[in-house]
Amino acid sequence: EPIMPPDLSKCHDATAPALDNHCCPPYSGSETILEYDFPATSLRVRRPAHLVKDDQEYMDKYKEAVRRMKNLPEDHPWNYYQQANIHCQYCNDAYYQQNTDDVPVQVHFSWIFLPWHRYYLHFYERILGKLIDDDTFTIPFWNWDTKDGMTFPAIFEEASSPLYDPKRDQRHVKDGAILDLKYAYTENTASDSELIRENLCFIQKTFKHSLSLAELFMGDPVRAGVKENQEANGQLEVIHNAAHMWVGEPDGYKENMGDFSTAARDSVFFCHHCNVDRMWDIYRNLRGNQVEFQDNDWLDSTFLFHDENEQLVKVKIRDCLNPTKLRYTFEQVPLPWLGNIN
Ligand code: C2O
Repeated sequence: EPIMPPDLSKCHDATAPALDNHCCPPYSGSETILEYDFPATSLRVRRPAHLVKDDQEYMDKYKEAVRRMKNLPEDHPWNYYQQANIHCQYCNDAYYQQNTDDVPVQVHFSWIFLPWHRYYLHFYERILGKLIDDDTFTIPFWNWDTKDGMTFPAIFEEASSPLYDPKRDQRHVKDGAILDLKYAYTENTASDSELIRENLCFIQKTFKHSLSLAELFMGDPVRAGVKENQEANGQLEVIHNAAHMWVGEPDGYKENMGDFSTAARDSVFFCHHCNVDRMWDIYRNLRGNQVEFQDNDWLDSTFLFHDENEQLVKVKIRDCLNPTKLRYTFEQVPLPWLGNIN
């Protein structure tokens, strides 16, 4: 059976020490849930973070949107920290699946990882657009699969900006350190150019190895009532974890990016996931857009989100497979890992 959304009135303490185990939303299950009315806006183009940097008009809008989100009342479903808490709720055991009293809803370690995060970003992006009344607004992607995008994106570094977050590993986010896509709290001693090459080779290998079998790239099946298996994640999720660890603080609760419960409190989270989402889209295109899993347990898995009209809506995986339906796409940029790497 497909994974179904939890009963929102039954949110309980999470396993999230960095937040005193509290990340439930203030709203509850008394809201009406509607089918999501998919947008009919023109196609929005997501661009690379290292290139939007010099687009002053865009940057002003992006910062203003996040500023407004941060200024919303604390209990507003769009409030910046409420948006971040969504991640904690679905990753740190704040809900049990319906009809169980001990199987948490968990959106990592399986084939729902990519679709759930796609929707999460989609609603977040549209809410930001709505806050500044901009029908074209997109979040940028951290283009870590290309040389110029492999450092921490500078747009999140300016201390006075609403995009700034002090809870990061300062050794990595400053001074142009190169991201290590295999990072797991051990510093890679390779030279910059060698590390760039290692990263490109790693991405190339990941695609090559998993092109014929979606489980390898996206994660193994998970079905209703079954506890997640933390070994079942796909290779893209594994790569994605490295960037989380690399950005978050090296000690303590590894805030913000290094811990599920706090990761989305850093705006770079959405920028990082935007590239993860893009990697999935590229994978899909390379496979001639075939449906990754012809399995209704995947296709009918259902999630709940607040949309840009403050309406609580439900969405199914089958409706997010093509980003066009969500009215966004990615700027085409070179893929230096696709052919010969030099
Ligand atoms: Cu839900 Cu980057 O993790």
